[in-house]
Amino acid sequence: MKLCIIGTGYVGLVSGVCFSDLGNKVYCVDKDKNKIDLLNKGIVPIYEPGLEEILKRNYKQKRLIFTSDLKKAVNNSDIIFICVGTPTKKNSNSADLKYVFKVVNELEKIIFKYKIIVTKSTVPLATSDKIEKILSKLKKKKLVDVVSNPEFLREGEAIRDFFTPDRVIIGTDSKKANAKMKSLYMPIIKKNSRYFNTSRKGAELIKYASNAFLATKITYINELANLCEKAGVDIKEVSQGIGLDQRIGERFLRAGPAYGGSCFPKDTRALIDTGNKFKTDLTIIKSVILSNYKRKFTLTKRLKEILHGKLKNKTITFLGVTFKPNTDDMREASSIPMIKYLNKNNSNIRYYDPSGEKNEFKKLKNVKYFKDAPSACFKSDLIVIHTEWNNFKLLNFKKIVKKSKFKIFDMRNIYSPTKMKKLKIDYFGIGR
Ligand SMILES: NC(=O)c1ccc[n+]([C@@H]2O[C@H](COP(=O)([O-])OP(=O)(O)OC[C@H]3O[C@@H](n4cnc5c(N)ncnc54)[C@H](O)[C@@H]3O)[C@@H](O)[C@H]2O)c1
Repeated sequence: MKLCIIGTGYVGLVSGVCFSDLGNKVYCVDKDKNKIDLLNKGIVPIYEPGLEEILKRNYKQKRLIFTSDLKKAVNNSDIIFICVGTPTKKNSNSADLKYVFKVVNELEKIIFKYKIIVTKSTVPLATSDKIEKILSKLKKKKLVDVVSNPEFLREGEAIRDFFTPDRVIIGTDSKKANAKMKSLYMPIIKKNSRYFNTSRKGAELIKYASNAFLATKITYINELANLCEKAGVDIKEVSQGIGLDQRIGERFLRAGPAYGGSCFPKDTRALIDTGNKFKTDLTIIKSVILSNYKRKFTLTKRLKEILHGKLKNKTITFLGVTFKPNTDDMREASSIPMIKYLNKNNSNIRYYDPSGEKNEFKKLKNVKYFKDAPSACFKSDLIVIHTEWNNFKLLNFKKIVKKSKFKIFDMRNIYSPTKMKKLKIDYFGIGR
């Protein structure tokens, strides 16, 4: 099949590259010419394990084309995927759909032959109806079908998630569009994934409902971790114990910092906004947002307590600053408010992240990036394990810190408190 992917960010690039690997010809379009130039040189602008190899393979086979020429890409394709960003609008909870509608308005002018327009971007309930309204002239001439196909891939595991998704959700009541989407996804559905054809609005809501549910699980276990800390119970035992119940499941029950990233924070807010539009009070999700907001302060306060309230001139090293491992994405990472607070309180911050230096901290005096964990940890007063990259799982802290007294605040509970005690290291975890 011939596909056009509009927006080559985390979702568009992974989808485009993986669809081409299934044998489709894929035009990946982005308005960012710099990104397109990099991609044409075989340079992947994001950190996503395994992506570069598949990209190069398909680029060589000429199944993958990177371009800024939307018209040519659309004219040569049967299915058009909209994969542009849908961030939160300023001073509001609602999703900003300006990038989506800009694309749709451009499409309106350049479509002359039947195309399926797919919203892969996360868009609120009834957005596809609005898209269809913009394209009403084309719809009347039966030149378009608008389909909702929300994306569920996780950054850092995106390739695996693309090829073996739990489910593929297709929201459309057009038999023609559904048949085409099914044949596109058939190669991966054969591998035990469920293909679920549903209503378009249903598909749009499923995406938000999924993200809000996962955010709820994280927030729930984080709150229980607060209780465990006071009650002298290990949250890891509790997570394991409740996770063994198949109705609950063990995933997303690991206590840690506030959830962040490009999806959960904005999608929970957008769902509240949708609730308001339909005069429905989504109390649980409101509480989740509030609890997650408080989490950043709770952990910063704990960090301060670990240092007995003395932050001035303390050398504090962050191992990992991204919102999760195996990605370079810093959107809404909880390390940002924490580091800014510590910086304001005159601590010397060092950090190492395997995905490289971060623009978010470049302008902050006394926040320094180091190229590896040992040099970042050297002579530190406190090591904060913020993101659970594999590189941080087997560190010999005594050897790398080279200081008689230092502390570790393990926000991901990677290390065993018993082993740390044996090593005579002042160790603090989460919910233990
Ligand atoms: N990042 C994730 O893990 C993830 C997972 C599932 C769903 N989503 C959803 O997918 C959508 C995209 O997310 P992302 O993280 O890939 O975003 P992103 O910001 O990484 O990428 C968006 C891309 O779209 C491009 N773009 C914007 N307007 C354009 C236009 N008019 N023409 C061509 N290109 C244009 C931008 O230059 C950018 O490269 C969002 O709605 C998001 O909620 C993201």
